[in-house]
Amino acid sequence: MNKIQIADKEFELLLDSDNISKRIRLIGIQLNVDYEKRCPIFIGVLNGSFLFMADLLREIEVPCEVGFIRISSYAGAESSGKINQAFGLPEDLHNRDVIIVEDIVDTGFTLDYILKEVHKQTPASVKVCSLLFKPAALKTEIAELEYVGFEIANDFVVGYGLDYDGLGRNLKAIYREKTVPADLP
Ligand code: IMP
Repeated sequence: MNKIQIADKEFELLLDSDNISKRIRLIGIQLNVDYEKRCPIFIGVLNGSFLFMADLLREIEVPCEVGFIRISSYAGAESSGKINQAFGLPEDLHNRDVIIVEDIVDTGFTLDYILKEVHKQTPASVKVCSLLFKPAALKTEIAELEYVGFEIANDFVVGYGLDYDGLGRNLKAIYREKTVPADLP
């Protein structure tokens, strides 16, 4: 399926599920090497990261722990940049190797907030693993962004955990919003 409709928006295929799985396998290999003989804690940011987290964790062979936090900063298709609150952040991160797992880094405001909260607990290390990254949308530097699945253009995307107004998270592939070409003069 190359084109889909969700509510009032039309989307076209950006990354198929085979492409996504292959990339996740490679990130898994990298993490297994980087965290050899360590026991990292993966913290997924809900809701968007749930599929990525599940598939990524199946590739991890080092001993590890898993947790999730929930945060809300996004309404519709436009980033508000307003962070409400983080729920469920583990309280025992001191001296731990923390890996924050995100679906997408857009403005970076969400991660910036989460990272400040995590660093308060003086972990041994903190890295971010995000399936998608929109470099052109970034508004705050994220030094911890170490593992990125795909760098994408500044388009609105859905699928594989990402939603448009709550819909589309269940899609196996990732789709980008179809933009109407500007009229030629
Ligand atoms: P940021 O704080 O602007 O980096 O946005 C982070 C969160 O906004 C992500 O975890 C997503 O849940 C959501 N988000 C950002 N861009 C998109 C998009 O293109 N589609 C769907 N959700 C998005």
